[in-house]
This record gives sequence, C-alpha cells and structure tokens, in this order.
Amino acid sequence: MSHAANGILWLNGQFGDFQTSRVALEDRGFQFGDGIYEVARTYNGVPFMLREHIARLFRSAAGIDLTLTMSGDELTVIARDLLIRFSSDDAEIYFQITRGAAPRNLLYADEMQPTVIVGVRPPRYVPPELRETGCHVITVPDERWARCDLKTICLLPNALAKGRAHRAGAFDALMIRDKLLTEGTASNVFLWLNEKLITPVADNRILHGITRGVVLKIAREIGYSIVERDINREELYAAQEVFLTSTSLELMPVVIIDDKTVGTGAAGDAHRDLHTAFRSFAQKH
Ligand SMILES: Cc1ncc(COP(=O)(O)O)c(C=O)c1O
Repeated sequence: MSHAANGILWLNGQFGDFQTSRVALEDRGFQFGDGIYEVARTYNGVPFMLREHIARLFRSAAGIDLTLTMSGDELTVIARDLLIRFSSDDAEIYFQITRGAAPRNLLYADEMQPTVIVGVRPPRYVPPELRETGCHVITVPDERWARCDLKTICLLPNALAKGRAHRAGAFDALMIRDKLLTEGTASNVFLWLNEKLITPVADNRILHGITRGVVLKIAREIGYSIVERDINREELYAAQEVFLTSTSLELMPVVIIDDKTVGTGAAGDAHRDLHTAFRSFAQKH
C-alpha cells in the first residue's frame, strides 16, 4: 500500500503523510500530552457533522487554555482540500492540535505556536460481523481525569482499559466512576430499559459525542422516550439492550457485559431501528 493510500496530512502548512511527517521532540504533545484532537468521517465523500466536530475542537481548546491560531473555516478548507487529494468516498478526517514545541517545562508561555495537523485516511476498521452479532464488553474503573468532556490526547487510561478488554477477549471496556456508568474507551453508551432510551448525562464525566447527539435527535423525532441520567451497574446488567455510539462505530450492539448476557443475547429492535434511521440520516445529510 502506498503512503497516500494510508492517508495524507497537512502539518503546519506542509502536506505529507502519516509515516514520514515529523514533529519536534520537544513538542508538548509528546512531552505532556498537551493537546486536543477530533475524529470525523465522510459518507459518500461528504464530511458528516464537520461543523459540530470543529465546534467541539474549539471547546476542547478553550478548556485547556489553548489559543488556536487558525479559524474553523481555515481548518475546514484544509480538510476539504485533503479529501479532494485523497479522492476516496470513505475517509476519516483527523485533527490534532498541540500547544507546540518549547524547552521542557510544565509552565507554558502565552505566545506559543501550536502544532496543527489535519489528516485524511481510510476509516477505522470495524469487524463487520460484530455489527451483526453484537460485541462483548467488560466493565473497568474509570481512572481518567475530571474533564472527560474535553477531547484531549491524554488517552492513557483509555488505552489501558482497551488493552484490559482485549486481554479478556472483549471488544471494549465500559468505564464506571463512583458506581455510575460513564462511557466506553472511545464511545458513548445507551441502554434500552423498560421502554426508555437511557444514556448518561453529558457533563464533565463523558465526552459529548457527536454521534450521541445525532442518535438523541433521531430518537426524539421517531418518538422514543429518552432519559439522560445516572446509570448504575445493576441497571446496566438489567438493560434489554445496550449499544455504543461513536463516529467510527456508528451504533454497535453490546450482547455480553462481564459474564452477563444482555437481553436475549442478540442485537435488539431498538438498536436496529435507530441504526437504520442513523444510516439514512448520515447518507442524506
Ligand atoms: C471517550 C469517548 N467517548 C465518546 C466518543 C464518541 O464521540 P463521537 O460520537 O463524537 O465520535 C469518543 C470518540 O472517540 C471518545 O473518545
């Protein structure tokens, strides 16, 4: 596979690829995880919810006291240019912005030149059979910081939880904080329980997923009864259906949590109904 087929990117004004482009050793992203990112995607070659992803990127930047030197429109123009160069209908659009490079010191200067990366590459692989059969997850303690609403590149707890799930033969981990369900390692969570669609409140404990927002909007329009509230472990186990949402996964059914079967052990009607509605919304957007 050529480099271009693996993806192309724009790094501080230079076009390049993911294999050979380089940032400075003293970049604060490398030294401190001092940065933010976004992952969006296209459907039929058209970016999906790009404005919302860029708005969240700006919220994340403000949340870590990072002043962006580029506007959302400028980032959008670069993403669109890369999409034309990449010329594939299915692409993932990646933004990463760090505070920039400086001699290693926790204290950062006010006037820093951020490192800006915009990339386009093939969409993340999701095993197609999992969409049919549903996936297995385990629960793990949520060991992340208190601002999970910011999409920062400090993903070590997420990576460790994902590794733990993998070693347990599961697809992902659901995180529990103070006895309450928060989210997956890179996804939000929905329950179908007693004729209600339930999902944790979008506060500082979870990322306010763009897919989560779309699912809530669609579900509301269809007439689902929706509740955003705290969810404990017992309710998670008692749900008739559970599914994950993210840009890459769309809506992924969960059929086993720890050693317990969810509902009938197969993907359920609420998931099917909402995933169909989501796909048609995404194709038409
Ligand atoms: C921790 C976390 N929660 C939720 C999501 C889902 O967000 P979105 O639907 O915007 O992709 C992600 C996406 O990567 C994530 O990393």
